[in-house]
Amino acid sequence: MQHSSSLKQIPSWRGALSLRGVLRSFCALQGDLTPYGSICQSEAHHFVFQALSNQQINMSLRWSAILLQRAATPLMQPARTLYNRGKSTLVSASLRADVTSQSPKITSALPAHHLSAKVLFDNDTVADFKYIWLRDNCQCPSCIDISTKQKLVDTTALDLNVKPESLIINSEGHLEIVWSDKSGSHKSEYGAEWLLKYGQSFMHNNFESDNIDVDIMSLRPEIEPWDRTTIWANFPELSYTEMMESDNGLREWLEIFYKYGVAVLRGVPQEKNKIIEVVNRFAYVKETQYGRTFDVINKPVEGAHLAYTGVALAHHTDMNYREKSPGMQLLHCLKANNPKLSGDDPGGRSFFADSFKIASWLEENEPAAYHVLTSTPVRFSIKNEGQQYSAVWPILCTNASGDITEVHYNNRTMKPLQAPTHVVTPFYHAYKLFSDKLQEPSASLEFNMVPGDLVAFNNRRVLHGRTAFDASKVDRHLVGCYVDIDEAFSKYDSLLANWISEQLTDKVSKTQGTPQVRPTASQILTQVLTN
Ligand code: OGA
Ligand code: ZN
Ligand code: ZN
Repeated sequence: MQHSSSLKQIPSWRGALSLRGVLRSFCALQGDLTPYGSICQSEAHHFVFQALSNQQINMSLRWSAILLQRAATPLMQPARTLYNRGKSTLVSASLRADVTSQSPKITSALPAHHLSAKVLFDNDTVADFKYIWLRDNCQCPSCIDISTKQKLVDTTALDLNVKPESLIINSEGHLEIVWSDKSGSHKSEYGAEWLLKYGQSFMHNNFESDNIDVDIMSLRPEIEPWDRTTIWANFPELSYTEMMESDNGLREWLEIFYKYGVAVLRGVPQEKNKIIEVVNRFAYVKETQYGRTFDVINKPVEGAHLAYTGVALAHHTDMNYREKSPGMQLLHCLKANNPKLSGDDPGGRSFFADSFKIASWLEENEPAAYHVLTSTPVRFSIKNEGQQYSAVWPILCTNASGDITEVHYNNRTMKPLQAPTHVVTPFYHAYKLFSDKLQEPSASLEFNMVPGDLVAFNNRRVLHGRTAFDASKVDRHLVGCYVDIDEAFSKYDSLLANWISEQLTDKVSKTQGTPQVRPTASQILTQVLTN
């Protein structure tokens, strides 16, 4: 078919391109639309699978799931939906029987996050199978003895990070995986019925009950976890004037913030309340016990806060002891010794590290430590100026799919661990592994903030800190404030929808040569989601 070649040309979708890419593939999968032509469903599946497995595209898993779902099952079945939502035990019991009594088919399978395959069944259910589980439970005659049905696989000899070389649904409708690990190549086949039976335990949701926000936020690009090298290659900054004076500038800056969890503004006038004007461009200031804004300045008040001295502050997230730590923090530098002018490092250097990057390293390389940090509750509390706050969080928080969602990390406010004895030493091991990795210079973006710099960061993702400085010699003054992060993202979403609308209009008028009326953001969404 003529379309496959054009689909193959879809470039690596990052940043701006990824948005158009998502829309483009969506339109294509829907058998829709000008100006992209149409393709058949199996081709669409094939394309999405290929693209995902080659990692040519950086599409959110949610989107790819929606794409496959839409292409695969045009009609939802209300009864099953109820079953999957688990609203009623009675209903779910009877439907469970229904689900298992009929002969199920696999509709699609695709590689998913966290070393797993997402398998869709024709009864509107979906399950995530971890690769290690699939490999361990291979049904072939060299893995299960034919006559005794006893397991021959040496489970502990398997590579925990085993991955498929290929993953297809074969002509018999079975999931067929070719593995390659240190012991060589191995082919496994799994029938739909068998997968569905065991998949029940991995089936935490289906597309309808997954609370998918089939909404504007689905247009966002993927977030990009970073380390020192990757962040310096693409320094996350924009000028104050661009951000303040144009919607495109604001969208770009919020996009940087969304993708990297850290966004710098340069050339912010050195006035005390400028930070509020910056925030008011997209949100409201979140007032806390420290006020609307706070001054990070050397003014030691006995028992107040280490930040108000010259001591180093190790990587941390702020206010883990609150009911919910603020999602966004901004720091605006009013005064600092500029090393470019003085020729030496005055200290007080700011550093930032992407804990999502480190967490995914941990998940891959030290899964036991990852498990401990995602499952052990830790108490954070603080007492100052007569006030006391206390809250409990795991260091790493994940959602039901295993994606990391937020991080709570501050050694200064962490209280004595209260956990079963057998968890204590593993916790210290895991905490040290995570902290050591975090403190490797290769993890951090480090620089001297100079007057006029403003850094905004996702306080539940990007950890921050500063090196020590001699408070008697260095005149350093930062003004900080907090913002509810969803306000920033909400503004970003609306700017993004407008921008996509502009891009699409341009594209359509270029291909069709006729002037088009620019669609509104909601028309774009309707087009994307209902066609
Ligand atoms: C803080 C803080 C950073 C700095 O006040 O919580 O992290 O650079 N300050 O002084
Ligand atoms: Zn086998
Ligand atoms: Zn801090």
